[in-house]
Amino acid sequence: MPHAKSAVNKASLRQEPVTIVIFGATGNLAHKKLLPALFQLEKAHDLAAGTRIIGFGRRDWTDEHWRDEVQVLLSDDESQQSPELARLLARLGFHNGDYESEVSFTSLATRLTGGQYPACILFYFAVPPEAFGPICTHLALANLVDQTHGCRRLVIEKPFGHDIESAHALDSLLHKHFTEQQIYRIDHYLGKGTVQNIMVMRFANLLLEPLWNRNYIDHVQISHAETLGVGGRAGYYESAGALRDMVQSHLMQMLALIAMEPPPSMDPEAVRDEKVKVLRSIRPISPRAVHAQAFRAQYQRGVVQGENEIGYCDEDGVAADSMTETFAAVKLYIDNWRWKGVPFYLRTGKRLAQTHSQISIRFRDPPQQLFRETAITKTEPNWLLIGIQPQENVRFELQIKTDGLEMRTRTVQMDASYTSPEREKLDAYAALLLDVMRGDQTLFLRYDEVAWAWRVVDPILKTWAVERDYIHTYKAGTWGPIEADRLFDDDSHEWRNDLSIP
Ligand code: BG6
Repeated sequence: MPHAKSAVNKASLRQEPVTIVIFGATGNLAHKKLLPALFQLEKAHDLAAGTRIIGFGRRDWTDEHWRDEVQVLLSDDESQQSPELARLLARLGFHNGDYESEVSFTSLATRLTGGQYPACILFYFAVPPEAFGPICTHLALANLVDQTHGCRRLVIEKPFGHDIESAHALDSLLHKHFTEQQIYRIDHYLGKGTVQNIMVMRFANLLLEPLWNRNYIDHVQISHAETLGVGGRAGYYESAGALRDMVQSHLMQMLALIAMEPPPSMDPEAVRDEKVKVLRSIRPISPRAVHAQAFRAQYQRGVVQGENEIGYCDEDGVAADSMTETFAAVKLYIDNWRWKGVPFYLRTGKRLAQTHSQISIRFRDPPQQLFRETAITKTEPNWLLIGIQPQENVRFELQIKTDGLEMRTRTVQMDASYTSPEREKLDAYAALLLDVMRGDQTLFLRYDEVAWAWRVVDPILKTWAVERDYIHTYKAGTWGPIEADRLFDDDSHEWRNDLSIP
């Protein structure tokens, strides 16, 4: 089986021009993420000459009309078009079509294969999951999946299915028409530099490895908090909820990177094999253990960073008696030699006090309290804090002696900030789009990763689906309900909400 190039060789890969077809070009994802990411690549000269971008959508738009829309979307100053924006706009074309209509795809095929567009075609599915099937079928009928004259790659957004059964059905459907090498299941967290840094930090340094196990690590927290609510995405979010939206995908991927064994190489399959080993070692949650291991809640009205915000049930498109969780916390155990008995706490929530994601690793206490007879009554444990966003850094917390004659300690942080303020960072979507263009699957999910992650959350989803009488609530602008603390294995455990010393 030919392997795609590994992530480490990225810089040396020459990029060929490609045609990118965006299904859902007028939607939220295209506007918020894809078009800005393509613009960023344009500015960085990362789009090969000749690369073209086709927006596919139901609106009766011409190429010019879409260009005007994108210009407004991406311009800081609409009266002046930057040369980079002009270059990007010149690549754009709009194809008016319907996912359900065969003719729309035959006309797309005629357009794409007429010699005007690069032969290697990427199809980006920025559409609701129900459109995946019809698009695949019509691409196949229009003979747009055959790779004889150029690559055909398919980029598919999460959620990959709704539960384990639907994920399986979706995967079978994709495999009817595409091979695994053509399928790029995107999890944009893997495109974040800070998330990739987890692997570098662990495997490019020797220092942590001897400590990276159950003998030295007390517990791990992976937390994603955002101040935003559901915005205009209630339609999707009502059927997803925080567990599907964040935990099954992004948080579980971060857990896999923290917990995986060193891979034999950075080859995509080698890395993904190790992630799968971790995911399949997660102790299955029995229906009886759901309450002890999972917690859900929903935001109510409150004040977020000085602004009054409405409660979830008052959002547009949300049912007044909705039981959808906007906060989810889960405790997982990885039953392998390295991690047996170490709790991994995963937490995510919307309309929380801050937008902040971090991984916090608490080390065990020293085996003996040697300073008990001094003014130090209790020493604080060491922590390793990995800021994912917006602060991107790694901090190691240590105890040191304070000045003066008395034997007292205080906590200090060694800070390894690694972002250079002067360079514009490549957005996660830009980084991943570049990988698709280069045919590098390392940072994309293989189906078994997705399936094992579903297996972990499935018992929770099933229990919550039938428990429709009560959901905990929290005021918008807080860190979620205090009841989430019931997941902790030990009284000394508490959430680290940010990178500062508590
Ligand atoms: C998306 C979720 O995948 O990730 C959103 O659907 C969430 O609900 C977003 O807000 C968070 O991504 P980021 O990059 O802003 O942390």
